[in-house]
Amino acid sequence: MEKTSRFPGFYKLPLGERVRIVAEWAGLSPEEEALLGKSLQLEQAEKMIENVVGLFPLPLGIAVNFLINGKDYLIPMAIEEPSVVAGLSHAAKLVREGGGFQAESSEPIMIAQIQVMDAPDLEKAAGKILEAREEIFRLANSKHPTIVSLGGGSKGLEVRKFHNTPAGPMLVVHLLYDTRDAMGANVVNTAAETVAPLIEELTGGRVVLRILSNLSDRRLAWARCTVPWKALEGKGISGKEVAKRIVEAWALAAVDPYRAATHNKGIMNGIDAVAIATGNDWRALEAGAHAYAARSGSYSPLTTWKQNEEGDLEGFIELPLAVGTVGGATRVHPLARVCLKILGVKTAKELAQIMASVGLGQNLAALLALATEGIQRGHMKLHARQVAMAAGATGELVDLVARRMVEEGTISPAKASEILRELKGN
Ligand code: MEV
Repeated sequence: MEKTSRFPGFYKLPLGERVRIVAEWAGLSPEEEALLGKSLQLEQAEKMIENVVGLFPLPLGIAVNFLINGKDYLIPMAIEEPSVVAGLSHAAKLVREGGGFQAESSEPIMIAQIQVMDAPDLEKAAGKILEAREEIFRLANSKHPTIVSLGGGSKGLEVRKFHNTPAGPMLVVHLLYDTRDAMGANVVNTAAETVAPLIEELTGGRVVLRILSNLSDRRLAWARCTVPWKALEGKGISGKEVAKRIVEAWALAAVDPYRAATHNKGIMNGIDAVAIATGNDWRALEAGAHAYAARSGSYSPLTTWKQNEEGDLEGFIELPLAVGTVGGATRVHPLARVCLKILGVKTAKELAQIMASVGLGQNLAALLALATEGIQRGHMKLHARQVAMAAGATGELVDLVARRMVEEGTISPAKASEILRELKGN
């Protein structure tokens, strides 16, 4: 039987039941299932970064209903913000009614930058570098034969000349390197460091920086979706009207960086949460996404939304997604391994397609809420629980205090303490 990620009422189940469903769905072993509750151990954390004194866990949620390129996915998300997982699951359900997400991704090409100062003649130096292309490729590939044997390694060379910089003229060599299923920061940085002496020899200059670029615009992912207007109907507003309002909401981001920043933040809510759950470097993704959003010179939204002739809503996203399924924390962090297993991804390209779809879905969730009842109603219910917990509520009292705050229309630490005192009878 085909597996489906469609789980109506998943959010209503008790936590233990949700864990059991996900474990069964993904074929997790009892040890892997147990990790969902235990997560990272101190001994492992100590090997991951320096000066470790503890752990800082985040909630791990599962977004349901995802259909991407005809395949069902459960999406693990590590995030502290309420409403993100629920909103995304709802958006995925709407997109599913239009056939799911269609996603693609480019080859996993990263860019290594090698900065050259003091080259006596920039034109000549650039020519020499390009002539030595094969030799540079061979050298760059020598350190990672496995990646090369899998079809990765050096794929292109570009030389950029900057005649006027605050530090004088400089050349920047871009080595384009296919990192296969690795995010590839280490591989690419090693390649850059390995070819640097040869670049100095060829140019007569002095190499300073040898580092990847996080504007990984050769490693793009795309996703599109169609939401039938009928699926958008509800709360007294017609589906076509909701679709129209979503396009209007997007249009503000298209003309105004003040809105585009918030619009893209919402997209990254989803993408970062999957990145964290799978042990990927979300700061690299953030840097790449925002630099890409500004590539035209004016900061723009990463998605587009329009209504087609039938009145249905069509969405599209394009952004760089330098993510891996091997290397780094993806394999070291035990829970990241489990999350990759829940996703069932085989390659970094597939993971990038999922994350692009998540970004588009998260954006739909935000625009849908904003264009209809506003973001606060749903948000406040969950926010109220956090405020109640911060005020010291535990167990059943969390929900009781939260509900009272929502009913009384004031969600604040003082109000939570007051209700808590009253409920405890002191
Ligand atoms: C909140 O984390 C994200 C939103 O502000 C995104 C948006 O406004 O599009 C709701």
